[in-house]
Amino acid sequence: MIHTTEVEEMRTYCIIGDPVSHSLSPAMHNAAFKSLSMDDVYIAYKVSSHELESSVESLRSVKISGFNVTIPHKIAVLQYLDEVDLLSRKAGAVNTVATIDGRFKGFNTDIQGFLQPLLNRGIDFRGLSVLLFGAGGSARAVVASLSSVTGVSKLVVANRTYNKSSELSKQAELQGLTSSVSMIEEAKVMAKRFDLIVNATSVGLQSNETILDSEDIDGGSTVYDLVYRPVMTKLLENAREKGARIIYGYEMLLEQGAQAFEIWTGLKAPILAMKKALFGVFQEPK
Ligand SMILES: NC(=O)c1ccc[n+]([C@@H]2O[C@H](COP(=O)([O-])OP(=O)(O)OC[C@H]3O[C@@H](n4cnc5c(N)ncnc54)[C@H](OP(=O)(O)O)[C@@H]3O)[C@@H](O)[C@H]2O)c1
Repeated sequence: MIHTTEVEEMRTYCIIGDPVSHSLSPAMHNAAFKSLSMDDVYIAYKVSSHELESSVESLRSVKISGFNVTIPHKIAVLQYLDEVDLLSRKAGAVNTVATIDGRFKGFNTDIQGFLQPLLNRGIDFRGLSVLLFGAGGSARAVVASLSSVTGVSKLVVANRTYNKSSELSKQAELQGLTSSVSMIEEAKVMAKRFDLIVNATSVGLQSNETILDSEDIDGGSTVYDLVYRPVMTKLLENAREKGARIIYGYEMLLEQGAQAFEIWTGLKAPILAMKKALFGVFQEPK
């Protein structure tokens, strides 16, 4: 027999995006619920851009407890939320939504999620030059992260669509960074001059494509690929070949997921269980 209280206590979460079949968030969050003996469930919904508004309204009517937002909706979703926190307003992008008293509140856990793996490695931000590929939702979070630490000396934003990189570079300036714009081909030529290279494009996602070849990379740089599937992207392979320090996309995935879990549940995220779930899906790199 099912008791009403039990049914009411089971909460539902989801991720919306397109494509979304590559997402590891369901495995990660369901493992977290299981490890804390919670009945909550997390599922993935493929939502195309023209369905975004109606899908957000459907989530409202089913009283979803919270949801994540991924490619390509992190920017567009803002207009359908009741409230956004300061950090997501700064980034102009949301990746986590919590239902609070029936209202949808947006957060951006990619910001701390991006920063944490750099902090874990003790990266010194003083005088750091950064080349950022991409100007979408996650690139906005990267800019907000870089502006939250002291010391970054310059940022160059390189994106396929010039208008978007120009807009993001202006945002970076407003957030206190010294920023300029480059086309991707030019950026490849000057990539060796940067301390930190970040790939925030979807190039390399489930493919063997790469934004930089090994001859474009200097061994003294740190190369951070936000793409996490495959874990060892062609870009990271190229960087490792040149002796550069590499940061995997799964590290950010884990950190942003842990923070989302904490926002939704108010509990400390069982990060080890979440990590184990990821590596049940793919092998932990050596
Ligand atoms: N590790 C993590 O936790 C984490 C978190 C967030 C995102 N990500 C990953 O980061 C990537 C970007 O996500 P997003 O949310 O920022 O997506 P998004 O908002 O849709 O932006 C996609 C970006 O990729 C660029 N792009 C797409 N195809 C390209 C191509 N063939 N050549 C050059 N540039 C291309 C786009 O350029 P245009 O502006 O020209 O279209 C845009 O800058 C995805 O792979 C996602 O899985 C990882």
